[in-house]
Amino acid sequence: MKIIIINGPNLNLLGKREPELYGSQTFEDFFEDLKEKFKNIELSYFQSNIEGELIDKLHEVGFNYDGIILNAAAYTHTSVGIGDAIKGIQTPVVEVHISNIHAREEFRQHSYISPNANGVLFGFGLKGYELALDSFL
Ligand code: DQA
Repeated sequence: MKIIIINGPNLNLLGKREPELYGSQTFEDFFEDLKEKFKNIELSYFQSNIEGELIDKLHEVGFNYDGIILNAAAYTHTSVGIGDAIKGIQTPVVEVHISNIHAREEFRQHSYISPNANGVLFGFGLKGYELALDSFL
């Protein structure tokens, strides 16, 4: 089973960025733990701060992977393009947010991803990525 985690802007700063919200672990560290835990999954990881690169990656994996775990970060709330990309591909997408976006500012409460996702997981910290992997199994 081939699954990719795609992270959007500023998530490369995990561990340093607003740790009270997003925790103090880097994603690279966490990803090593995930690979250890899910040895039977062919797991890959892509992060970009650039909207078009996220769309290109969705196109690239969206017809030959078994699952996509997407945290589009701030683009969640602004990107019609990423929403359309998910509509256009075949691979199921689970949307993950580390924080509970519904308990935060109003502008975070709209997602262009959710209507096109197969499932959504908000507010479980990094554990959300693990729960998303479980959902694919
Ligand atoms: C986030 C929530 C977004 O609103 C924010 O812009 C992020 C991180 C999360 O994982 O909680 O960058 O996607």
